[in-house]
Amino acid sequence: MTRIISISNHKGGVAKTTSAVNIGAGIANLGKKVLMIDMDPQANLTVSFGISNPETTIYDALRGVSELKPIKIYKNLDVIPSTLDLSGAEMELSSEAGREFILRELLDPIKEKYDYIIIDCPPSLGLLTINAFTASEEVFIPIQPHYLAIKGLTKILEVVNKIKKRINRKIEITGVFVTLFDKRKVLHKDVYETIESYFGDRVFRARIRENIALAEAPSNGLDIFRYAPDCNGAFDYGRLAKEVIEMEKTILKNRETKE
Ligand SMILES: Nc1ncnc2c1ncn2[C@@H]1O[C@H](COP(=O)(O)OP(=O)(O)OP(=O)(O)O)[C@@H](O)[C@H]1O
Ligand SMILES: [Mg+2]
Repeated sequence: MTRIISISNHKGGVAKTTSAVNIGAGIANLGKKVLMIDMDPQANLTVSFGISNPETTIYDALRGVSELKPIKIYKNLDVIPSTLDLSGAEMELSSEAGREFILRELLDPIKEKYDYIIIDCPPSLGLLTINAFTASEEVFIPIQPHYLAIKGLTKILEVVNKIKKRINRKIEITGVFVTLFDKRKVLHKDVYETIESYFGDRVFRARIRENIALAEAPSNGLDIFRYAPDCNGAFDYGRLAKEVIEMEKTILKNRETKE
């Protein structure tokens, strides 16, 4: 069974893309077949994997001009790239019937080829994110440890609940993790505890520390394991990827009992 996971937070710059890239690469390194989808017109995930001027993109597929054409990056890891043109998609698709279901339909014929499909969402909760949520069973939320971070989450929780009620009853927030963490800062520890008290065992134990190599790796078109395998960033995302795989059994069991 395939796990389809959206990585989302409408707040910008909380390390959604960095996390998508490195969780995906970490899981692929552990032997799982992974497809990554860039649903953000900023195309940061696309660039992070060193893809430039792809022949087809998620934009073509969403418009019905082409099928989904995954690009093989290395063993176990494929990417469906994005393009700046995707910024027009929300408007262009807004009057289309069943516009929330387009990505789900596109994934149906190919999803069984993968163990994991990870979708990097844009920093908004518009039609692109709704397509990602409609196609996913799981949402992971990266959170930066600021006081207002939790307050801002109300909106995404509302949207996930609405999608669950109206469109996709399978969707759940199954993982929350803290990014850009500095354990020396009392504030960061406090916020981590608040997040834990709110989300309980859905909070991953791995906390992603600030690490300059994570910011440098994308400009080299490499994930952190290939760019700097011995840095803290590789260690933290390696731990996180392991935790994601460890929760597999529980997730799939819960899914079966629901079906
Ligand atoms: N742990 C980290 N240590 C240092 N820099 C980081 C870390 N995680 C992310 N960054 C840097 O922070 C910036 C924002 O990260 P990223 O692009 O992943 O966030 P995002 O949530 O995807 O942003 P957007 O909302 O624009 O899509 C980037 O420059 C990235 O390289
Ligand atoms: Mg991003």
